[in-house]
Amino acid sequence: MNSEQVIVTDLAQFGWCVVPGFLDETGTAALRAECLQAHAAGAFHAAGIGSGQAQVHSEVRGDHVLWVDETNTGPALHELLDRFESLRQGVNQELFLGLLDLETHFAIYPPGAGYQRHLDRFRDDDRRSLTVILYLNEPDWREEDGGLLRFWPDPETAPLEIVPAGGTLVTFLSDRFWHEVLPATRQRLSLTGWFRRR
Ligand code: OGA
Ligand code: MN
Repeated sequence: MNSEQVIVTDLAQFGWCVVPGFLDETGTAALRAECLQAHAAGAFHAAGIGSGQAQVHSEVRGDHVLWVDETNTGPALHELLDRFESLRQGVNQELFLGLLDLETHFAIYPPGAGYQRHLDRFRDDDRRSLTVILYLNEPDWREEDGGLLRFWPDPETAPLEIVPAGGTLVTFLSDRFWHEVLPATRQRLSLTGWFRRR
């Protein structure tokens, strides 16, 4: 099975999926470079909470983000977005989620920043249906560096702790799974997106 088939199969069975090496080291390095270049150019801003006029509460989430649109899409990102489009179609064909579009941002967590336990669906906007998180960290990221994604497949039992290794893709149904980002000792990079329905 290719990674798209693995994701579709796991989503149908469990509602979530982790694929190490979804993006290879070369592709991850190219996308990381695009992310860092935009960050160096000052294009990021502190992330907010909630939809619309989001408010910044850095004790709840401490990352900086850059929303992706046609004006800031480099070649590596373009290639990835093509794969996400193929995934959207595959998921719709097999799971009938009616995913319509993808909203996505780069996220950079400075050392010490995290994101408290939450669900990805807003109270006043239920369009976010499928979350995708692709880590863009350096290949030498280790568990001791922190930045783990705590993920509760079941709210009653102990969470998984997922190492944010570059190239790993995490996907899950946005309204179902509690998750949390633990602080890291070094800068933590990702591209995070939400497929939305109507
Ligand atoms: C988010 C989020 C998790 C991660 O941006 O909503 O939960 O591992 N990110 O970056
Ligand atoms: Mn989240």
